[in-house]
Amino acid sequence: MFLLLNPTSFLSVLITIITLISSIASQPAYTYPFCSDPQNITENASYTSNLSALLSSLSSKASLNSFYADSSNGIYSLYLCRGDVPSNTCQTCINNATQEIQRQCASNGTAIIWYDECMLRYSNKNFHGVYQTYPRLFMWNNENTTSPDEQNFGALRLIYTLIEDVPYTDMMFGTNQSASHDGSQNRYALTQCSRDINSSDCSSCLGILRDAVTKCCQAKRGWRIFAPSCSLRYEEYPFYQLPSVPSTPVPVPSAQVPEPVPGESNTKTWLVRN
Ligand SMILES: *[C@@H]1O[C@H](CO)[C@@H](O)[C@H](O)[C@H]1NC(C)=O
Ligand SMILES: *[C@@H]1O[C@H](CO)[C@@H](O)[C@H](O)[C@H]1NC(C)=O
Ligand SMILES: *[C@@H]1O[C@H](CO)[C@@H](O)[C@H](O)[C@H]1NC(C)=O
Ligand SMILES: *[C@@H]1O[C@H](CO)[C@@H](O)[C@H](O)[C@H]1NC(C)=O
Ligand SMILES: *[C@@H]1O[C@H](CO)[C@@H](O)[C@H](O)[C@H]1NC(C)=O
Ligand SMILES: *[C@@H]1O[C@H](CO)[C@@H](O)[C@H](O)[C@H]1NC(C)=O
Ligand SMILES: *[C@@H]1O[C@H](CO)[C@@H](O)[C@H](O)[C@H]1NC(C)=O
Ligand SMILES: *[C@@H]1O[C@H](CO)[C@@H](O)[C@H](O)[C@H]1NC(C)=O
Repeated sequence: MFLLLNPTSFLSVLITIITLISSIASQPAYTYPFCSDPQNITENASYTSNLSALLSSLSSKASLNSFYADSSNGIYSLYLCRGDVPSNTCQTCINNATQEIQRQCASNGTAIIWYDECMLRYSNKNFHGVYQTYPRLFMWNNENTTSPDEQNFGALRLIYTLIEDVPYTDMMFGTNQSASHDGSQNRYALTQCSRDINSSDCSSCLGILRDAVTKCCQAKRGWRIFAPSCSLRYEEYPFYQLPSVPSTPVPVPSAQVPEPVPGESNTKTWLVRN
């Protein structure tokens, strides 16, 4: 059912842990590749060259389109930049992604790489329009929220309201913010679906990830959950480009995507295969 499902690990569906990495600090974008389906390079001599040609054609497309899906020469590909990311950042991210995915997964039939600002995937099997919630990448700030009475309530309220709207928007992307319980801080949330799937599958995908918050991230200061077809993120600081509100005289934030603030060094990462 899942294209990336490894049949031999079928029995460990609930708890297959591949890596537990800690302390990712100071990188502008997080890069996590997941490669599967080893190819027989002798048999598939042309595979890597076809892949290489495909990937190099994608980064130029990223200056024009924030989402792109294609199939050619037996390889299905797709990239998606986060809905708030400007086209130059999108292109930089996809350019990096095409190089990194090739470096790390060149001889694999199926691969996905996640960044904060974009994601890229390919497969020799057609995954377009098929919603997938595995593999999953969980990242969270190991510090608990500073308003413990709030628990996860503030986060989930933001996420719940976003999930009601986002699947029916053109970009399948949305952000929202709210004040903390005591009004001293703001909370920020983001939800996104890959635009190859339809609204009802987007809604299902986001709902599944929302329910997975309890596996890692309950009451944590911030967290991200990435899956092939959708993603969620929640933080106590603004991490996306705040939409400019015409009636507000406050200056528009800089054109750059904000980088992680200090304190992010306490980030934990958990990749779940299936
Ligand atoms: C990726 O492909 C390589 C070469 O075929 C193989 O050695 C490796 O095990 C594959 N990785 C995964 C996770 O399947
Ligand atoms: C590549 O090789 C694998 C087995 O090693 C095979 O299953 C697959 O069909 C081959 N792909 C192509 C495009 O020939
Ligand atoms: C790859 O394909 C070649 C040619 O068909 C075959 O001789 C070889 O045993 C295969 N290798 C693996 C690891 O399957
Ligand atoms: C690579 O692309 C060529 C066409 O350019 C195609 O004939 C060939 O089958 C492709 N190789 C694989 C392994 O799909
Ligand atoms: C991609 O970005 C990562 C993290 O920012 C960096 O370490 C890496 O060198 C970049 N790779 C390329 C090919 O630009
Ligand atoms: C966070 O809160 C949980 C539950 O109250 C507690 O078990 C855990 O030790 C706390 N972690 C940190 C890093 O303070
Ligand atoms: C944003 O959050 C506020 C406060 O929780 C809520 O009232 C509003 O409906 C949310 N808007 C969207 C688009 O989710
Ligand atoms: C959404 O797409 C899935 C997969 O293609 C399909 O099964 C489902 O019927 C579609 N739902 C709607 C409402 O179009």
